[in-house]
Amino acid sequence: MSFRAKHLLGIEHLRPEEIVTLLDLADTYVDLNRRSIKRSNVLQGLTQINMFFENSTRTQASFEIAGKRLGADVMNMSMQASSIKKGETLIDTALTLNAMHPDLLVVRHPHSGAVNLLAEKVNCAVLNAGDGKHEHPTQALLDALTIRRAKGRLHRLNIAICGDIAHSRVARSNILLLGKMENRIRLIGPPTLMPTGIEHFGVEVYDDMRKGLDGVDVVMMLRLQKERMDGGFIPSEREYYHRYGLDTEKLAFAKDDAIVMHPGPMNRGVEIDGTLADDINRSVIQEQVEMGVAVRMAAMDLLARNLKAERGARATGVMV
Ligand code: NCD
Repeated sequence: MSFRAKHLLGIEHLRPEEIVTLLDLADTYVDLNRRSIKRSNVLQGLTQINMFFENSTRTQASFEIAGKRLGADVMNMSMQASSIKKGETLIDTALTLNAMHPDLLVVRHPHSGAVNLLAEKVNCAVLNAGDGKHEHPTQALLDALTIRRAKGRLHRLNIAICGDIAHSRVARSNILLLGKMENRIRLIGPPTLMPTGIEHFGVEVYDDMRKGLDGVDVVMMLRLQKERMDGGFIPSEREYYHRYGLDTEKLAFAKDDAIVMHPGPMNRGVEIDGTLADDINRSVIQEQVEMGVAVRMAAMDLLARNLKAERGARATGVMV
């Protein structure tokens, strides 16, 4: 099998063939999810723990549904109510859970790098559900699957990622994935919302939406991450919408069949016009949510196979 990773911590260390393997498997789970009986037993007998130290609607729900459809025993830790509130460190919490023998640990954390650190301390597969401004690998994979199904391919496309790039783990993971698959990436947004060192990313940078969107196949909008801003990054939301908000007038500069994406949650009327977001002829936002469940099923299936192979090898004393 060409998917060798033990954890899914980011896109950074995935090879293009691993990405393709995962997306191909996810396609089969899209079919399963459209049946009336959505059930497989590939995770039967395994325990999945979801630890979300940051708010989440669709990511947490979709990991939970994904695990249940594959037959895992799924537990959602309520981090608000846990001993973290009493001062327990992330690592102590992880070690406590580890002693209960989970097989899959899904973690979202506000600090970049926290999930990698945790993965070093436990002996199960860890999936990063978003760490600070660092990575959000399953989001980039579900975006890739959505693009591949809408455009029929995942290479040589012109893709614009627009808005608050600086604070976005979604942008970072997408830049890495879409770059590995040999697409042309344009980042569009105000200079205050561009990350430092952007010149090393192998992307084109624009601060004018109309110029940046000219002829693109895919328009990916991002939420203004107000909770990660500590000062005046934008003059006002009204001004921001006027210059960078996606509406039909700006979208007209993209290709006629360009698709509109957004990871959610959306600020309607701030980064995107609400009517355009709901326009099923242009927007694939609901497909992204659908693909999210399938991609998470595929990711957990592949990691569980590797985990079982490693445990089997350890039991028989064979090195893998
Ligand atoms: C994103 C996140 O949490 O990084 N949302 C998501 O997972 N769908 C993007 C965001 O919060 O804006």
